[in-house]
Amino acid sequence: MSIPKSHYFEAQPAVPSKPRTVRLHLADLDLELQADRGVFGSKGIDAGTLVLLKEAPAPPPQGEILDLGAGYGPIAVALARRAPNAHVWAVDVNERAVELTRANAAAAGVANVTAGAPEEVPAGLEFDAIYSNPPVRVGKAPLHRLLETWLPRLKPAAAAYLVVQRNLGSDSLARWLGEHGYVVARLKSKKGYRVLEVRAAPSQA
Ligand SMILES: C[S@@+](CC[C@H](N)C(=O)[O-])C[C@H]1O[C@@H](n2cnc3c(N)ncnc32)[C@H](O)[C@@H]1O
Repeated sequence: MSIPKSHYFEAQPAVPSKPRTVRLHLADLDLELQADRGVFGSKGIDAGTLVLLKEAPAPPPQGEILDLGAGYGPIAVALARRAPNAHVWAVDVNERAVELTRANAAAAGVANVTAGAPEEVPAGLEFDAIYSNPPVRVGKAPLHRLLETWLPRLKPAAAAYLVVQRNLGSDSLARWLGEHGYVVARLKSKKGYRVLEVRAAPSQA
């Protein structure tokens, strides 16, 4: 029997579950996380995710932080550990990923993560920071729509940190953001990934 084709960004992955344990090892934390088939990075922590967690600035100590496209939660759980007095929203369209993030946050002993579908984030909530390894493989137009949905929810002067592979269009994404009202800084280029810092451009008024 052939295994149905599956994408990591489906609400309910078609591939059967096959849980596995992966290790998130950083200078300041060392965690075992549960991953699964049908969820991004199921074979181990993604190289881009590691670059983001090593190179992006520390999260704000308090306030509301968004992990956009949380997968099984490596970014959300690391942010929650690093900023225990902040609240981390971990959103994903993939229900298997959301369940894993909840379980991984509980296993890591962090109570300041809320994992859920994007629509579960209260309307009107604004963020002190956004961190994301965004779902580039959904395609350019859906990726742009996703960013157009969430970036305007940054508080004034707050920043989003996005990690994007250079050969998956980090530079053209930076250009597009620049053309759509954002100031983009390339914070780091490492192992084929760029970490972009994105802020709303100051208003001209
Ligand atoms: C590149 S993966 C990163 C996963 C995880 N943050 C990590 O670092 O391993 C991007 C994630 O975005 C999710 N995603 C795709 N479309 C989305 C959407 N419209 N809203 C929220 N998450 C989405 C995918 O399901 C996937 O888990």
